[in-house]
Amino acid sequence: MNAKSKPQKRHPSLQQFSREHHFGLLLCWKIREGFRRNIELERMKKYTDWFFQTHLKSHFEAEEEFMFSLLPDDDKLKKRALKEHRKLERLFHDTIDVNRSLSLIEEQLDEHIRFEERILFNEIQKIATEEQLQKIEEMHQEPLIDEWEDEFWK
Ligand SMILES: [Fe+2]
Ligand SMILES: [Fe+2]
Repeated sequence: MNAKSKPQKRHPSLQQFSREHHFGLLLCWKIREGFRRNIELERMKKYTDWFFQTHLKSHFEAEEEFMFSLLPDDDKLKKRALKEHRKLERLFHDTIDVNRSLSLIEEQLDEHIRFEERILFNEIQKIATEEQLQKIEEMHQEPLIDEWEDEFWK
C-alpha cells in the first residue's frame, strides 16, 4: 500500500468531510486566482478569515474529536495531521505578513486535504468500527454554505 495506490471508496459516514474538502480545495484555487488577478490582500484576507471561522475551524475540530481520536497518540499520520492543523490555524490568524500567509495557506491546505483524502481517511476507515463511523456521521453533518458577496476570483 502506498500513496499512489487506488483511492478506497469513501465510506458514507465520511462523505460530509470529503464534501468540505472540496470547498477547501476551492479556497486554495480562489487564493491562487486572487494572486493572479492582483487582488488587494485585504479583500482576500476577509474571505479567508470568514471561511476559517465559519467552516474550517469546526471541520478541524470534528476531525480531531471523532476521527483522529481513533488513532493512538504516537501514530505518525495522526501526529502529522494535528501538526498541520496547528500550522494552518497560525497561518489563518496571521496579520503580520498576509502575503506570505495566504501563499502558504494556498500551498499547505491543498497538501493537507490531499493527504487526508489519499492516506489518512483510508486508514481511519480501515480501523474504525461501524459504530464509530456511525457516530462520526451523526456528529458532523451541517451543510456547508459557501456564499460570499465579494467574489474576487471571478
Ligand atoms: Fe484536517
Ligand atoms: Fe479535513
